[in-house]
Amino acid sequence: PVPSVQAMVAASAGHAPVPPRYLRPEVATDVVVADDGDATTTSIPTIDFQRLLLLDPEESARLHAACQDWGFFQLINHGVPEDVMEAMKGSTHAFFALPAEAKEQFRQEAGQLEGYGQLFVVSEDQKLDWADVLYLNTQPPEHRNLRFWPHQPDSFSRTLDTYSAAVKHVADRLLGAMSRNLGLTDPERLVAGVSGGIPLSSMIQSVRMNYYPPCAEAADKVLGFSPHSDSDLLTLVLQVNQIQGLQIRRPGDGAWLPITPLQGAFVVNVGDVLEIFTNGRYRSVEHRAVVNAHTERMSVAAFHSPSIHATIGPLPELLGDQEAPKYKTLDHQSFITLFFSAKLHGKSFLERMNKKNL
Ligand code: SIN
Ligand code: FE2
Repeated sequence: PVPSVQAMVAASAGHAPVPPRYLRPEVATDVVVADDGDATTTSIPTIDFQRLLLLDPEESARLHAACQDWGFFQLINHGVPEDVMEAMKGSTHAFFALPAEAKEQFRQEAGQLEGYGQLFVVSEDQKLDWADVLYLNTQPPEHRNLRFWPHQPDSFSRTLDTYSAAVKHVADRLLGAMSRNLGLTDPERLVAGVSGGIPLSSMIQSVRMNYYPPCAEAADKVLGFSPHSDSDLLTLVLQVNQIQGLQIRRPGDGAWLPITPLQGAFVVNVGDVLEIFTNGRYRSVEHRAVVNAHTERMSVAAFHSPSIHATIGPLPELLGDQEAPKYKTLDHQSFITLFFSAKLHGKSFLERMNKKNL
């Protein structure tokens, strides 16, 4: 198993050389643009959730454009109470602050995502990310595997239960707004997929808490999270610290664009499944996390996926008359198998779903 990065940094007091498996010389020369707040090219759009709920046509149009042009936006006025957001931040802090032995109890099992550890380590020679994670299935509640849910802090389970339900509620309604924008008459299509007939409530949510230790020796030569696109429908990320770290590959020129988190907002992104459902109208954009030399950073990502019974492929009612499907249609099991074989690297999963690459 891969060691905890946090424990490794603590043991060396941040002064040992970074092990070669974490070093990525290419990062130092990648093009990163500055976020100067220019709302058209150097920052992702901001969407006001309350306006969407009021069916404000301008806000709906802005959401549609954000999904088509950026695949990313920040969501403000989302209605998740501040105390729920703050409690989630506090629980994330408190969990990663536990002694190493306490966290090890929740260690993920070989080949599994759930639990405490690292994500997507598939080979001995693979480069490693400068991060530890705690990954949990959260919704619906019967999907929970409580053996991985920390007992400390005492409030952890209650906090995550409340937070996950509140975030799922926002995700449901965002998908509803997207359905309207796409002209889908049945709002459940985005959860049911091509097979249809599956209620919105069967959407699956998992939550990943990310902990990026500082990297005093080589912050510009490691990555907290390798470039990837999310394989779900829709991801809502809570930035625990109000600092940069998440970068997206800007559509158009491919430069890495840092996101400056807005206080209290969610960073929302379109995942691969939504790109597939919409036959590419909505974009699942590659992103990565960089680390800081002296400051730790944390985030909490909530992933929303279709029902396990959903068939994944371009929705027929979204295909124009002469429009060919760009992606294959797969039942959920084949989809999962393909997903795990694609190893979450870059956009390799979407590429495998692409008909051109069959
Ligand atoms: C990710 O989930 O891809 C990274 C989120 C982040 O750390 O901001
Ligand atoms: Fe991601």
